[in-house]
Amino acid sequence: MSAEELARTARELVADDKGLLAMDESNPTCNRRFARLAIPQTEDARRSYRELIVTTPGLCDSISGVILYDETIRQQTKEGTSFVRAVTDARIIPGIKVDTGAENMAGHPGEKLTAGLNGLRERLEEYAKMGARFAKWRAVIAVGDDIPSRACIDANAQALARYGVLCQEAGLVPIVEPEVLMDGEHTLERCREVTEEVLAAVFNELGSQRVMLQGLLLKPNMVVPGLTCPKQETIDEVAEVTVRCLLRAVPAAVPGIVFLSGGQSAELATARLNAMNVRFKSQLPWALSFSFARAIQQPALEIWRGEAAHVAAAQKALYHRARCNRAARRGEYGAAMEGG
Ligand code: 13P
Repeated sequence: MSAEELARTARELVADDKGLLAMDESNPTCNRRFARLAIPQTEDARRSYRELIVTTPGLCDSISGVILYDETIRQQTKEGTSFVRAVTDARIIPGIKVDTGAENMAGHPGEKLTAGLNGLRERLEEYAKMGARFAKWRAVIAVGDDIPSRACIDANAQALARYGVLCQEAGLVPIVEPEVLMDGEHTLERCREVTEEVLAAVFNELGSQRVMLQGLLLKPNMVVPGLTCPKQETIDEVAEVTVRCLLRAVPAAVPGIVFLSGGQSAELATARLNAMNVRFKSQLPWALSFSFARAIQQPALEIWRGEAAHVAAAQKALYHRARCNRAARRGEYGAAMEGG
């Protein structure tokens, strides 16, 4: 795969004001979300739910790519179509989560290091043969009094870059996801400081390990105050601090920034993305887009609750959230869209 093809796929994923839908929850995470709604935590329930998502009528109006999980990419729809085929038939680009999860980092209480480099070259080759065109790897950085440590930031940045260069070798566009977590009492300014430090380390490693910036997408957190911080800034303040942080840290060669939602409510994540595009879109070197899981799926999951009779209503809710986020890319989202 040539550098030009990788760059073309990366641009395609952020073209037309569309964005990504992450549906790559690991089995434990998916089961936890199902358990809260009393949905059976079985392989077939997970399969049915993922089928509901990818068969949503008109999903490709707003969604350019979906991120699948290893279990899902090996499953089929009720009619016996592979998920990659179902996604491609829906005119959406299939992607795959390839990390194997964040593990406790030895010697660093409270910090995590993402695993999955062992055997990654072979797994990427297999996923590419199955039809995946992009991949995702998530690093998690917790914020506390004495964390993150330099060692945690550096080890995660190195792993992201190793993953990135292996993806490009296999012809897959890497989505590079360093997530600074929202949990905690820390301020917006502390989140900005940590996010900027993490992004500087990530781009330093990407450069030294020869990852081609034109052929990747960055999936960062928005810069937000900790969930339990007493001061919660306005949507416009969050938008401004986030964009200024990214302008300092992200090279112009990167074609797109696709935010994770990280536990923000669906409407707030959309409103913040909208505010960034209203104020800054015309001045930015990269597209500002989305790669949400919860902020797109949660309302639909709550409607579905494992009931076949609720599938159509859940798909309608999913379509709506995807459409709101596409509007946010254009800076055209507003309360009127939520009014029904
Ligand atoms: P959330 O949007 O729910 O944070 O999920 C995005 C994601 O892909 C996490 O890795």
